[in-house]
Amino acid sequence: MNDIVVEDLSFAYEGTDRLILNGINMKINRGDFVCLLGQSGCGKSTFLRLLAGLEKATTGSIKMDGQEITGADLDRSVVFQDYGLFPWMTAGDNILLALRQRYPKRKKSELQKIALDVLQDVGLKPDVYKKYPKELSGGMQQRCAIARSFSIDPSVMLMDEPFGALDAVTRAKLQDMLLNLWSHEDQHKTVFFVTHDVEEALLLATRIFVFGQSPSKIIFEHSVKPEERPTRANLYTSEPVAKLREALIANINQDVMSHIE
Ligand SMILES: Nc1ncnc2c1ncn2[C@@H]1O[C@H](COP(=O)(O)OP(=O)(O)O)[C@@H](O)[C@H]1O
Ligand SMILES: [Mg+2]
Repeated sequence: MNDIVVEDLSFAYEGTDRLILNGINMKINRGDFVCLLGQSGCGKSTFLRLLAGLEKATTGSIKMDGQEITGADLDRSVVFQDYGLFPWMTAGDNILLALRQRYPKRKKSELQKIALDVLQDVGLKPDVYKKYPKELSGGMQQRCAIARSFSIDPSVMLMDEPFGALDAVTRAKLQDMLLNLWSHEDQHKTVFFVTHDVEEALLLATRIFVFGQSPSKIIFEHSVKPEERPTRANLYTSEPVAKLREALIANINQDVMSHIE
């Protein structure tokens, strides 16, 4: 069954007549890891905001399990590049706040236990619970933000260049952690992941979409076959991966060329 169906979606911000997205169609199955690539300004964040229910389609629709998305819902959780933790609250309290919204009737001690468990799931020690964001590195803050997102057990995770500000090693560790969490048997969540890094998309995605420029449509789409799915170890040696990389870069490059003149 198709879990998320985007049909003839177009979008202009309210009060403007410039279309940002035009004619977007997409069928996504539950459990897919969807990577969205495209030049900056092409509308990737806007598309995530539409999926989150923070903006409304100008024409067309986005449906989840057959129901049109009309507003924000804890079942679709968003992780941003800038971590989005409240600086005046400890990491633990940031997670508790989300848990309190999701489970208003549960005891605080129960929620604290969930918060500690998810911190462990993302590879953080329990003492992080009591630390403020400024006491944590960027990588640790992003782990906390991901922990918060997972803690409320959404069926869809919307991630907007979540690792864009991290150094290469931290980024690799977080990619592995995310893949690990995603492939967890009882938590096969649908992920929409925006990146402008082709290598990151190759490593993570089961589906890849490249958005073109103004107004944005999908200029390349690919369902990753099992033999094209790399491990970190064979990312640069596997032949099917190399072919897919070539196709991706060629399409992105063509789009770039058509907008330089
Ligand atoms: N709130 C807004 N009102 C009007 N235009 C916006 C708003 N937010 C973004 N835009 C415009 O929409 C276009 C797409 O932006 P965005 O979705 O952020 O692209 P991306 O994430 O791919 O870099 C840009 O031209 C941007 O200036
Ligand atoms: Mg963006």
